[in-house]
Amino acid sequence: MRIVVARDYEQMSRMAAIVVSSRVILQPNCVLGLATGSTPVGLYRNLVEFYRHGDLDFSRVTTFNLDEYVGLGPNHPCSYHRYMRENLFDHVNLRPERCHIPRGDAEDLEGECLRYEEEIRRAGGIDLQILGLGVDGHIGFNEPDVKFERRTSVVKLAESTIQANSRFFDGPDQVPRHAISMGIRTIMMARRIMLLASGPEKARAVRGAVMGEVTPSLPASVLQLHPNVTIIVDRDAASLI
Ligand code: GLP
Repeated sequence: MRIVVARDYEQMSRMAAIVVSSRVILQPNCVLGLATGSTPVGLYRNLVEFYRHGDLDFSRVTTFNLDEYVGLGPNHPCSYHRYMRENLFDHVNLRPERCHIPRGDAEDLEGECLRYEEEIRRAGGIDLQILGLGVDGHIGFNEPDVKFERRTSVVKLAESTIQANSRFFDGPDQVPRHAISMGIRTIMMARRIMLLASGPEKARAVRGAVMGEVTPSLPASVLQLHPNVTIIVDRDAASLI
């Protein structure tokens, strides 16, 4: 596990964008695993900037997002489909047919999970998985006490996650209670993983992820078992390590 402590959010985002760009340049047909939330917004902003400068070509890149809220269609303003279009997809030359996000509005949610997992397999697996970190140590929407061996599935959100994510909705009661999320097993199968965390509210989860016991009660701690993980955190998030 490589741990990089950035000065602040801006530097963390820039470093993360350099890691992703290097992968795209070295392997133009790579498969990227993408994350949402406020943490990777700066990463995507930097990638768009690199693209506009003519330094990046995404035309052969395939992407798979970690998760989506159950019940939200792709055009819902709080859906991760919408987030990805606004922050990345609409601004670079990724091909829409190569960008995958679970459908939270699928009629058969279990079938959607199996289909998603199969799509990842058919694409050859994920070369670089980007992760944010929940305050409770969740990755994707794999909440504490998740089974490490789980693949993509429908998960119930923790109350603390509903509260934390309510800032994107018109209040906590608008936040869906379930999501489709890649499982820990799906995430751990990625060849490389890059986890980002910023701000003092993530410090406890960062500590658990890098030096705590490996336990389902802090899902990100499983990353200690992965052979190729880079953690980029700002000073506030690194304050307990
Ligand atoms: C959500 C997402 C996670 C993300 C987490 C942290 O729960 N499903 O993938 O890492 O929020 O979000 P933020 O970056 O906004 O703190």
